Order: sequence, then C-alpha cells, then structure tokens
Amino acid sequence: MTVIFKNEVPYIEGINLNELVKLVPTPFYVYSQKSIAEAYFEIQNKLKKKIFYSIKANSNQAVIAFINSLGAGADVVSIEEMQRALSAGINPNKIIYEGVGKSQSDIVNAIQNKIRQINVESIEELLQINAIGKSLSKNVNIGLRINPDIDGNTLDKISTGRKTDKFGIEFKQLSKLCSLIKSLNNIQLKGMSCHIGSQIFELQVFNKTFTKMKEGLEILNSHNLNIEHLNLGGGFGISYDDNIKDFNFSDLADLINNIFPNPNFEISFEPGRYLVAKAGTLITKIITTKHNDKTNFLITDAGMHTFLRPAMYGVYHKILSLNKNDKKINYIVAGPICESSDILSKNIKLSEQKTGNYLAICDVGAYGAVMASNYNSKCLPTEIMICDKKYNIIRKQENVSSLIQKDIVPHWIKN
Ligand code: LLP
Repeated sequence: MTVIFKNEVPYIEGINLNELVKLVPTPFYVYSQKSIAEAYFEIQNKLKKKIFYSIKANSNQAVIAFINSLGAGADVVSIEEMQRALSAGINPNKIIYEGVGKSQSDIVNAIQNKIRQINVESIEELLQINAIGKSLSKNVNIGLRINPDIDGNTLDKISTGRKTDKFGIEFKQLSKLCSLIKSLNNIQLKGMSCHIGSQIFELQVFNKTFTKMKEGLEILNSHNLNIEHLNLGGGFGISYDDNIKDFNFSDLADLINNIFPNPNFEISFEPGRYLVAKAGTLITKIITTKHNDKTNFLITDAGMHTFLRPAMYGVYHKILSLNKNDKKINYIVAGPICESSDILSKNIKLSEQKTGNYLAICDVGAYGAVMASNYNSKCLPTEIMICDKKYNIIRKQENVSSLIQKDIVPHWIKN
C-alpha cells in the first residue's frame, strides 16, 4: 500500500491525492515508482539472481522502461508483449518468449527479432520451431517449459503447474523429448523453465518444484544435454491483507543454495505481481450512495471494467476513503456496470461517505489496468506514474468516439 496520510491528507510519495483528483478525471491508476524500485531491489538483493519481469502484470510502457532501467529483462507471453518490451527499450537478448499458443507468424517474428530464447510448451511446438528455423536457415535458441505436476496451493484460476493445467510439457515426456531434441538440427537447447502459479506463499511448494527441476536436469544430463539457464518462474505472493506477511525471499535464497549449491548454469526468476502490485492504487469517485434493504451501497465510477480481480477471483483488496470522519459504516462498494458481480468490496467499514467523495483501492498495480475492458462501452482509464513530487500521465484515458470509430457498419445496413 502506498497511500500515506499526513494530518489526514492522503499522499502517494510527495503527491497530494486531494489535489490530483481536481486535475485528473477518475477513475485512474497511480503508480509509485519508488515502490517498484523497492520491490525489485528486495528480490535482487536477497536472491542475487537475474530477473525477467513478467510484463503481463503491468505492461504500461513507462513501467516496463523503468524496470528495464533497474536492470531486469522481460518475460513475455505474447508477441504483442514482445513488441511492448522492445519498444520500451529492453535489449532483445534479455527477452524470453513463452506462452501456450504461439502462431507460426509469432514464432517467425520472435526469431527475426533475435530475442534470447523461445520457451517450448509442447512437442508439436518443438517440431514447428525446428521447421521454421530450417526454413529461415536459423538455429533457434529454445528453452523447455516443464510442467512439474505440482500444486501451488493457490487459487484454482491462477494455478499453472498441475499436470491437468494446459501449460508446459509433461514431466514424463522429458526423456523422450531429449532424444528428439538431439535429432533436430535447427534448434539449440539453452534453458529449462517452470512456473507453477501465482500468489504462492508456501516455501514447501518451491522446494518441491526446484527438486523436480533438479531431477529434470539430471534427465537432460543423462542424455548428454546441458543448459545455460534455469528459469524458476515467478508467483511470489504479496499480502493484500494487513494480517498476512509478504513472501520471504531470504528463506527462498537458502532453498536455492541448498538445492543448487554450485550450478554450472545461470538461475533466474520471472516475477510479475511482486514487482508492481503494491505500487498501484486505483482512485475512484463515488457516483451515488444508496440503501437497499439493510445494505449501504457506494456506487463508484471504477468497476469490473476498470479492475476485474474482485469480480473474477472473489479476492479482497483494501479500500481507503480519502476523507476521514468519526462515523464508521459498513458498505458494499460496487461499480457502475450492469452485472451483479460488479462488486469491488462485499463488506468494508469506512468513514461515512457521500456522493462526490473519493476512494482508493489498494495494491492494484499488478493485473489491474492490464485486465481492464471496454464492457458497457466504458473507456480504459488514465494511468499516472508518481516519482517523489513529480507526476506524469503514462496512459491517456480513452474516449468513446475513438471506441465507436473502430466499429464498421456494413454498407447494406447503413441507410
Ligand atoms: N511466468 C509465467 C509463465 C506466468 O504465467 C506468470 C503469471 C508469471 C511468470 C508471473 O507470475 P506472478 O509473479 O505475477 O505471480 N490475473 C491473475 C494472475 C495471473 C498470472 C498469470 N501468470 C491475478 O490477477 O491474480
């Protein structure tokens, strides 16, 4: 959480939010640059491993460019994300491309941009990449994304490492895959990777995963195959709730050193959420208040179209009111969208509110703006970066006429 009250006035870094709302129409996302840097250096200083920022968490060009300036590479899961990473200035040799559905032209595009590595998610894809390499007379650097069949003990919807999930190559097939890799002339095995899910807290889950990856390396070695790079995924949990502690990186560092004491390959991670979640706050205005049955509703201009996580995963995000008073009331905070699931908080105690007041939804820097939509023909929100006492709009609010202009009415319908 980055909002701090000084004499009851809300600030993010050196910017007074009560002033900002007079200048920028709500709803808008605000990111604290300092908070991103702190999260990055926390991981970096404790793990001392290379970081490939998983840009799906927040792919605003300013955010990618800033994380690039800190020294990270990028993990991209679509060719469109690759374009974002390149145009934010990330060196192609620091970009890893994975993803369960890469088209022929995506693969060609990635090869032509000379990115560091393409992670292969299936045997069919391996053959396809080799064939494309052959047609382009190229030797393509690949990694193997392994599905270690480990449950991350996180939400079902954000688990990726069980054998029933669509991601990665089944561990059992690794041995067979090794023989195949040796028979293919247009691929070069560089790495192995895994990612078992997001918002993981249990060290034991990482213990099992790393141990399985070590086993995977032994299988490769038994086929005289070596790698230069082992990528152990992302998924580090952050506390959305004051009662839960953030992920413990010192314990993770010990675990890595125990399992891989003297690696002759580079180890890296690809976190997304941990780097940006806490940096982001969504500022929204109360459009109206209402009382139905025994319930007090606050209807805000942000909703599931601006911030989908509560509606999609049923998860909690702390909400603060920018004004304070002594009367505390339980509210349901709901967006303006025509869906009953458009709820931002099912039960939150706040100072008594009135129409026109502002609320701050906390810890929304990851999987916030990137999952916003145009549902109900709402426009994507403004995004702002704050650095100390400076702020800059880093994404302009869309307008409805540009949305309408994208649609084409066929001539036989036009009058
Ligand atoms: N690597 C791969 C291959 C991934 O699929 C993901 C996230 C990451 C890294 C980064 O994971 P993180 O460090 O951010 O946990 N929309 C959901 C989260 C989906 C995560 C998808 N994959 C949410 O709002 O919770």
